Amino acid sequence: MTITIIGAGNIGGTLAEKWKSAGHDILIGARNPNEEETLKWAQSIGARVMPIAEAVKSGDAVLIATPGKVVSDLAASLGDALSGKLVMDATNMAGPLGTAPGFEALRKAGADAVKVFNCTGWENLADVRYGDQVADMFMAGGSDSAKATVRELVRAVGFSDAIDLGGDDKVHILEGFALVWIDLAIFQKIGRGIAFKLLRR
Ligand SMILES: NC(=O)c1ccc[n+]([C@@H]2O[C@H](COP(=O)([O-])OP(=O)(O)OC[C@H]3O[C@@H](n4cnc5c(N)ncnc54)[C@H](OP(=O)(O)O)[C@@H]3O)[C@@H](O)[C@H]2O)c1
Repeated sequence: MTITIIGAGNIGGTLAEKWKSAGHDILIGARNPNEEETLKWAQSIGARVMPIAEAVKSGDAVLIATPGKVVSDLAASLGDALSGKLVMDATNMAGPLGTAPGFEALRKAGADAVKVFNCTGWENLADVRYGDQVADMFMAGGSDSAKATVRELVRAVGFSDAIDLGGDDKVHILEGFALVWIDLAIFQKIGRGIAFKLLRR
């Protein structure tokens, strides 16, 4: 699969490396596609860097891992290119609405948007293992077929599973879930070496 990454920082850069190692083609959609550091890093992992619109057009799936405030404008600027496109939205944002407007804008542009990779620290994308336990990922969004593909991409990163919280109306729960992780890791001072797992019987 060809996966486009918009925002190749902690989250996007780590997932790019993981998916490349799993055999996927990686396109980095960058606002500064000639930036030397980005080009050097992309070359080191075998990814290609190009303008955002071009990368979105050429990708089978798109990951958005930019600051949350960027997503609405990004959706507006990409317009038709998002129609029918699988988009993984990993963003979080402080404030009463969180990233809801951004996710809504992606859906309005016709994207099969899935909220995922937002409720854990980026370190857990680099290494999902805790001894002999493997962390779970959580996702929500209105397209079942998109979520089936996302589940495969989540497993390719090494997570045990992508637990489905439901449709578009459940996306806000995932943002709250991210706040639980942030609260425990940072404000309760447990540290960033924590991850969620669903226990069943
Ligand atoms: N860090 C975590 O552990 C974590 C965990 C869960 C969710 N998240 C969420 O994931 C998102 C990314 O976090 P991060 O820690 O990976 O951030 P980061 O390391 O600061 O990376 C952000 C990336 O977004 C790009 N970017 C910024 N503004 C942009 C714009 N207007 N258009 C296109 N690209 C733009 C930056 O590229 P440039 O080189 O162009 O600046 C950079 O590659 C945030 O929404 C965050 O809340 C983070």
